[in-house]
Amino acid sequence: MTIIKYPEAVLRQKAKSVNRITSEIFNLAESMITTMLENDGVGLAANQVNSLWRIFIINLRPGEDKPEPIVVLNPLIVKTEEDVEDEEGCLSFPGLYLNVPRFNKVTLHYQNLYNEKVIIETSGLVARAIQHEYDHLNGVLFIDHVTEKDREKLNQYLSNLNKQI
Ligand code: CO
Repeated sequence: MTIIKYPEAVLRQKAKSVNRITSEIFNLAESMITTMLENDGVGLAANQVNSLWRIFIINLRPGEDKPEPIVVLNPLIVKTEEDVEDEEGCLSFPGLYLNVPRFNKVTLHYQNLYNEKVIIETSGLVARAIQHEYDHLNGVLFIDHVTEKDREKLNQYLSNLNKQI
């Protein structure tokens, strides 16, 4: 699948809940896993492949030889702990890395493709990716969280984009 790049409008739209896990949802999830792995992403949200279902994929083992992608439907972050700031990128903004404040630990409730309720507690890079993908489903992008010290870097990136369009 082609990854939608900023400033396509779908990246600013809010995705809708998955009520029935149809073959369309199954196929979408499978293609999203492949697309995320091909692009070395830690996560990928449906908006980024031009779909508006509340689905994202997360690799629970980023940087390891054997990836462990999970399909997350209808996510809800129910608990967050510890402020942390670190560098972050997004497949919809090739070449842009910004320091973004996030929580170090999150507890996530979601449904899997078999309509089972799942709870995971995680920290570090995976927790960061979960917050990033969760934002995508609400039309929120990592550039919205830019810190004062990276604002100039972001402005430069956006002005280069405008020149290309
Ligand atoms: Co992203």
